[in-house]
Amino acid sequence: MPLLRDAALATAFDHGADRYDRLVALNPGYHAQLRRSARRLAALDGGGARRLLDLGCGTGASTAALAAAFPGAEIVGVDASAGMLRRAGAKRRPSRVRFVHAPAEELDRAEVGGPFDAVFAAYLFRNLADPDAVLAAVRGALVPGGWLAVHDYALSGRRTDRLVWSAVCRGVIVPLGTATGDRGLYGHLRCSVAEFDTAPAFGARLRRAGFGQVRVLPLPGWQTGIAHTFLARRPAADGDR
Ligand SMILES: C[S@@+](CC[C@H](N)C(=O)[O-])C[C@H]1O[C@@H](n2cnc3c(N)ncnc32)[C@H](O)[C@@H]1O
Repeated sequence: MPLLRDAALATAFDHGADRYDRLVALNPGYHAQLRRSARRLAALDGGGARRLLDLGCGTGASTAALAAAFPGAEIVGVDASAGMLRRAGAKRRPSRVRFVHAPAEELDRAEVGGPFDAVFAAYLFRNLADPDAVLAAVRGALVPGGWLAVHDYALSGRRTDRLVWSAVCRGVIVPLGTATGDRGLYGHLRCSVAEFDTAPAFGARLRRAGFGQVRVLPLPGWQTGIAHTFLARRPAADGDR
C-alpha cells in the first residue's frame, strides 16, 4: 500500500471527512488522549499561552482539546484538507478559535503569521513529505522559549508494540477503512506508522531540528508503546538547548 502525500493525502482526507469523527469515536481514549497531551503542553507553559497554533487540526478534535487546556487563548487551526476543515467549522466553538485552509508547508504564504506561544500537532508529522522542513517552520513560528507538543502514533521500538500495531491494523483499521470506502486512507495510516520514526527517533529528530528539553511521554491504554506525546522547546536564545 503506497503512502499518500500532499494533494493525494488531502484528497483522501476530504473523502473520509464525513466519517472521520464516527471512526475515531470507536478508538477508545482518542479524545481523552488528545486532552492529556494538550494538558501536558499547558502544564509546561504554565497556562499562560495567549496564541496557539493547531497544525493539522482536521475536524477540530485536537483544537477542542487545546481550547479546554488553554481557556482564553486564541487558537488558529490549520489543515490542508478542505473537507476536514468543513467539519471543524460546522461545530460549535468559542470565537477565539479560527480555522485556515493551508498546508503546513505554506504557513507564511497563507499568512498564518507567528509568533505563537505554543504549537500542537496531533497525528500530523508522519504524513509529511518533509517533516524536517515543517519542524524548522514551526520552530521559526514559535516565540523564543515557546513549546511544541506533538501527539502521534510512533512505535516504541519494541517488537511487541510493532506486533500489536500490526494486529490492530489487520483486525480493525484496514477492515474499517475498506468497509467505509476509505481503504487508501487507512492503508496509509497503517504504513505511515510502520515506516516513520520510532518514538526515540522522533525525539532525536526534534533535537536535530534545534529544539531543546525534548521529552517523550507514553500514553495510557492500548496505545501504550504505540502513541506518545513529544514535548520540545524552542530555546530562549540562539545557542541554548
Ligand atoms: C489524522 S488527522 C488528525 C486531525 C486532528 N489533529 C485530530 O487530532 O483529530 C491528520 C490531519 O492532518 C492533515 N494534514 C496532513 N498533511 C498535512 C499537511 N501537509 N498540511 C496540513 N495538514 C495536513 C490532514 O488533512 C488531516 O486533517
